[in-house]
Amino acid sequence: MVQKRVDYQALARSDQRHLLHPLHHPSQHQGAPIWVAGEGAIMRDVHGREFLDGLGGLWNVNVGHGRRELAEAAAQQMSTLAYCSSYAGSANVPAIRLAERLAELAYPSLNTVYFASGGAESNESAFKTARFYWKARGKPDKVKVISRYYAYHGVTLATMSATGMPAYWPMFEPRVPGFVHIDPPYSYYFNKAKPGETVGQAAARLLEEAILREGPDTVAAFIAEPVQGAGGVIVPPDDYFPQVREICSRYDVLLIADEVITGFGRTGEWFALTHWDIEPDIMSFAKGVTSGYLPLGGILISDEIAEVINGVPPERRWMHAYTYSGHPTCCAVGLKNLEIIEREGLVQRAAEGGKRLLQGLSTLYSLPAVGEVRGLGMMAAVELVADREVKKPFDPAQKVGERVYRAMFERGLFTRTRGDVICLAPPLVTTDAQLDRIVQIVGEAIEAAVPSEVRA
Ligand SMILES: Cc1ncc(COP(=O)(O)O)c(C=O)c1O
Repeated sequence: MVQKRVDYQALARSDQRHLLHPLHHPSQHQGAPIWVAGEGAIMRDVHGREFLDGLGGLWNVNVGHGRRELAEAAAQQMSTLAYCSSYAGSANVPAIRLAERLAELAYPSLNTVYFASGGAESNESAFKTARFYWKARGKPDKVKVISRYYAYHGVTLATMSATGMPAYWPMFEPRVPGFVHIDPPYSYYFNKAKPGETVGQAAARLLEEAILREGPDTVAAFIAEPVQGAGGVIVPPDDYFPQVREICSRYDVLLIADEVITGFGRTGEWFALTHWDIEPDIMSFAKGVTSGYLPLGGILISDEIAEVINGVPPERRWMHAYTYSGHPTCCAVGLKNLEIIEREGLVQRAAEGGKRLLQGLSTLYSLPAVGEVRGLGMMAAVELVADREVKKPFDPAQKVGERVYRAMFERGLFTRTRGDVICLAPPLVTTDAQLDRIVQIVGEAIEAAVPSEVRA
């Protein structure tokens, strides 16, 4: 044990000296875990401590950790042909097969895939494709993208500009022009409904008003996560997306579904807009396509957009590219991952396990600080408030979310909070007993970490 602690300290020092982390600040690395192994829904750190992986990696390890089959798929492809270019005039078998499979699994009108390496690259591709489409159709001024507050679409310059959480912006301003934000249907706090209007109707109206305000001839696309993930697992009311679809079609605005989190079974359907029986024009995907075993993402585009891309003369071609687009090894792992999801019925499992998780979390309403419990499939959140009667948030200076995060960690649950919202998205293979344990730890952590005047 002593030896292990020495190892940890040396590693931690080296980490601080040499590694810049996403959302970097050294204060968060005091006692930070250094992970060394994983199996199913469990991760083990360098001290040998085991934790439940409450966020399935970063909302991506859908099939769980430690899948030898995926390692073997990668090893086989790497030892055959690890990499080749996918630039126009060159192709490879795993990329073709995976594109075929994605076209089968995704929405019926989306049959053409462009591969990227992650979520932000996928959304960048979606924005550029939307602009390309309108230029090719003779509407060069349709360039703006509407997105929503609490949205997370990545943090490259353009995707950061679409991301609707202002904390990501100030130290990197100015943002890319042409990105406009509206309120999402965040039912718990939404206050823009007119008398007689549902939250879904009102939030859809905000989209229509934004399109009219900006001018329909200037708006290329509306991008939305079917369930907002990093923003706090915001589940839309059932009447929202059907109206959004209708509004986008009416004003010639492409609907981009950012299914980077919601894809590949996470919500209990292969892709989440199926819950509301609508199709996007473009879908971004990443994360669950390989369950995080290798970096992969991409977009699926509608037949109509594909026809436009394929119809322009060579000098006006879709001049977009990544070295790793269609990476054979990543695609081979993606194919095997989809095979596992299908073979083990993990989409159905997400629906069933998600119900159990949500029911379990709903028992936490017995704690006064629990304002709302919400979720869809294997995505859930617990929103903590100082006063449930009037939905009054905690004073940020109390750092309640951070304290709950630490209390969960001490009890063996590793996940993330957004402010005072506890986010959960465990691997789809998480067992019932593990889901129940997650609920138990969340409850204990809230009790331990929430200020005593609210606990009373
Ligand atoms: C919905 C959504 N879109 C895009 C991204 C960006 O993905 P990446 O971090 O792979 O760039 C994320 C990442 O969490 C996401 O949750």
